[in-house]
Amino acid sequence: MGDRKVLVVGGGGREHAIVEALSRSAQVGRIYCAPGNAGIAALAECVAIKDTDIAGLKAFALEQGIDLTVVGPEAALAKGIADEFRAAGLKIFGHTAAASRIETSKEFAKEIMASSGIPTADYRSFTDFDEAFAYVCSRPFPAVLKYDGLAAGKGVVIAADKAEAEAALKDMLLDGKFGEGKVVVEDFLTGPEFSLMCFVDGRRVYPMPMAQDHKRAYEGDKGPNTGGMGAYTALPFITDEDRQYAMTAIMQRAADAMADAGCPLSGVLYGGLMKTPQGIKVIEFNARFGDPETEVVLPLIESDMYSIFEAVACGQEAQEPVWASDVTFGVVLASKGYPGSYEKGYGISGVENAGGIVFHMGTKLQDGVLRTSGGRVMMCVAKAPTLAEARDKAYASVAEIRCDNLFYRKDIAHIAFEY
Ligand code: AMP
Ligand code: GLY
Repeated sequence: MGDRKVLVVGGGGREHAIVEALSRSAQVGRIYCAPGNAGIAALAECVAIKDTDIAGLKAFALEQGIDLTVVGPEAALAKGIADEFRAAGLKIFGHTAAASRIETSKEFAKEIMASSGIPTADYRSFTDFDEAFAYVCSRPFPAVLKYDGLAAGKGVVIAADKAEAEAALKDMLLDGKFGEGKVVVEDFLTGPEFSLMCFVDGRRVYPMPMAQDHKRAYEGDKGPNTGGMGAYTALPFITDEDRQYAMTAIMQRAADAMADAGCPLSGVLYGGLMKTPQGIKVIEFNARFGDPETEVVLPLIESDMYSIFEAVACGQEAQEPVWASDVTFGVVLASKGYPGSYEKGYGISGVENAGGIVFHMGTKLQDGVLRTSGGRVMMCVAKAPTLAEARDKAYASVAEIRCDNLFYRKDIAHIAFEY
């Protein structure tokens, strides 16, 4: 075991996967996680500091002599955690506030794409309700309306008709439901969606295996949008040529455009992409690891995780990451009622009998009992040479977990199996 001290910021399944990958590094001696969760506590020391309490996190990192901080959530990046840590001489893996605008401002992201020829849906942005509504009515439905700013995943509305568009635009532009802001209206695209995450240091771009998330709550991709109900790697509908195109025409161009704009990336760039009949296009960029994609991607890393984070944080060339040739499959167990209202505090047992890796998303230890404490509670991830084997292993793990208040989707990766 090495002697490096790492602080991971965040407390969900994504951070559990980051902590798990770091725990396999020969350089890492001690991992802290703020605030962490009950599963993370098995691998790291959880510290009760909120992920957006930048002053508190900085004071902790200075006091403990933390060698490297790794940031999960976008809110901390948007608030300038990387800027503040760097100004204090602390090493941190995560973009500056200026660079994280590629996620937090839809209009900024669209401008970066337009200036560098990155394929994406055509769009216009509006601040005036009447102008926005008139434009939407002059175009074919469905209309895609995106609130420009962080809206906790609720900022995108696909309006099927005039009435839905009017209601959504009213929320966004007249009633200030999300705060003052703009709306980006864009063309509706079709095709399978997938996620391509890369470690990016300025113009250097290192791809991770691609993954597909399942955003809808129920089987058959029905029901409300969620933070993600499952994910898997190995996408049969994406060819090597598609991947090459996505790397050169999208991810590399984005990195170069951000460097040219004076806000170089330094962290993870997440491409939310769609394979449309007109080719691969960007749905959105995120300035961080995806959740739940990270839980299926990072278990495949064979390189030293610490070395990659450190190289990117310091602007040094990293070794090309090495990935296992296996594929992964992950199923999210969520509280009944999620993404609407749900109850917390249900006891969970049987986790020790589950094979593969069980990432905790929203759990808490109370008087020695493991309990649910969030909408998405756990994710069972299995690794195998084929997707079918990984699926069978992951659902076998799910069957071991006992809790009265959880549900999960039984059709994760249906697009791959139907292909
Ligand atoms: P987001 O919250 O930005 O991840 O968007 C939520 C979902 O809306 C995406 O995963 C897509 O399924 C859908 N979406 C966003 N933009 C478009 C678009 N231009 N055309 C079709 N679907 C879209
Ligand atoms: N899985 C989608 C996201 O992380 O935004």
